[in-house]
Amino acid sequence: MLKVNHATRVVVLTGAGISAESGIRTFRDSDGLWEQHRIEDVATPEAFQRDPALVWRFYMARYLQSLEAEPNAGHKALVTLEEHTHFTLITQNVDSLHSRAGNKSVLEMHGRLSSCFCTLCRTRFILPEISFDGDLPYCQRCEGLLRPDIVWFGEVPYYLQEIQSALKKCKIFLIVGTSGVVYPAAGFVMTAKYLGAKTISVNLEKPSNHSFIDEFYPGKAGDVLPGLVQELIS
Ligand code: APR
Repeated sequence: MLKVNHATRVVVLTGAGISAESGIRTFRDSDGLWEQHRIEDVATPEAFQRDPALVWRFYMARYLQSLEAEPNAGHKALVTLEEHTHFTLITQNVDSLHSRAGNKSVLEMHGRLSSCFCTLCRTRFILPEISFDGDLPYCQRCEGLLRPDIVWFGEVPYYLQEIQSALKKCKIFLIVGTSGVVYPAAGFVMTAKYLGAKTISVNLEKPSNHSFIDEFYPGKAGDVLPGLVQELIS
């Protein structure tokens, strides 16, 4: 097993699986439905244009659920890994559990539930700061409609430049709890591997992009990651 130190550049990519043990349901484990909704009814710009009140109800419920959730042993192991390496964490999750666990270098490429922005002037607000006028919240500056700060299907993820630059330099690319079907995140392992990184995956089942994985550890993130991180840093 490769050993790491403060100079070792480690990039971690997480998906819904790492939050499963905190009680947050993953997407593809729910039969194409996401908390009883079809993805195209709640997670696309067209869905928001069609029925912004439905989309806001959906994301408010998920925001409140995320506030109830606590970081688990998998999240905490990644804090330990950050303390011992030159570390970047890319997450597709929008629940902010990595930051709440204590990770500092976190790129939330699909946005965050705790934030929203104005569809007209783009000003960002945190959710506790906004109020609803009927079913919908409006901007305190320009009265434009606010939308969740979530990267929906068909939109460009955040931090792509920072991510590419971290991938190019990393020695270890660790992927946790993601099915490997949603791009561009599913393609990061290819970049990292072609540029010489060792690629490691921790997942309940083999992800779709497993042909690019050097070492696969099957199991729950909360069971596997603490031991794996101890191995790497010891
Ligand atoms: N530990 C590790 N892996 C787990 C666990 C667990 N406790 N529980 C589930 N998994 C695995 C599942 O086997 C599955 O492969 O996590 C993966 C979760 O996959 P998805 O539900 O597809 O989630 P994710 O890959 O994060 O989805 C990517 O798709 O819907 C969009 O934008 C959304 O960010 C999301 C993106």
